[in-house]
Amino acid sequence: MSELQIGVFDSGLGGLTAVRELIRILPGENLVYFGDTARVPYGTRSEEMIRTFAKQDLRFLLDKNVKAVLVACGTISSVALPDLRKMTDVPIVGVVEPTALAACKATKNGKIGILGTSATVKSQSYQRAIAAVDPKISVVARACPLFVPLVENGYLKGEIVELVAKEYVAPLIAADVDTVILGCTHYPLLKPVLGQLFGPQVRLIDSGREAALALGEILREREQLSCATEGSRHYYVSDEVSNFSHIAGMFLDRNIDGAIEKVDLCTDD
Ligand code: DGL
Repeated sequence: MSELQIGVFDSGLGGLTAVRELIRILPGENLVYFGDTARVPYGTRSEEMIRTFAKQDLRFLLDKNVKAVLVACGTISSVALPDLRKMTDVPIVGVVEPTALAACKATKNGKIGILGTSATVKSQSYQRAIAAVDPKISVVARACPLFVPLVENGYLKGEIVELVAKEYVAPLIAADVDTVILGCTHYPLLKPVLGQLFGPQVRLIDSGREAALALGEILREREQLSCATEGSRHYYVSDEVSNFSHIAGMFLDRNIDGAIEKVDLCTDD
């Protein structure tokens, strides 16, 4: 089993924040990543379109001999998880449930904020997951459609980011939340700006991290963890490799190691 890989995918680069955590907690695992950089963002698209893209993304990874797949995208996890699970017996882990659980454990005042893409917030996925853990917790959610394009283009700080972030976090601050779900895997890169706006008393929950931890647990239970000390990494993207490798290091918090290839997904779905 140990030679099998963990598949990870996202609409673009955001899922690399989950890869960063997987490398940290499970360094011996072989990882294969797919970022649909040609079609990012997904979060402003229709549910039907998101499902179609997500199925194509997963099909690509299932051909890579994977033992589990991490859907490192809040949008796909919110909209398409049941469809994806129907495609395979391989465990498919999304970001929503593990992150909601971590937020419920973290909150002291029972007020949780959610920042996510338009599709994620509209789906109410996090709201449902929180209510399933503790229906007394109050939730305020804000869609942040400008965050993904900013982050994908390397805008992580400065006046423009601060202005946009200030607008998005205002309803959460007004609601006195003490815990905020970064419901999109791109958002951890904005932590310095968001942390400053919310202040140190507000806990920011990183969805990629929580999902990576949940995936590790599943592999442990299934006795499928790798015994290797250092796993291999392979990255696939659907648009130019040079754009990807340039920004990917920021998401991974280290220089990208492993091969990077451009692929054309079959789009006749
Ligand atoms: N990282 C994706 C997510 O977690 C971004 C979605 C998008 O492409 O808009 O939702």
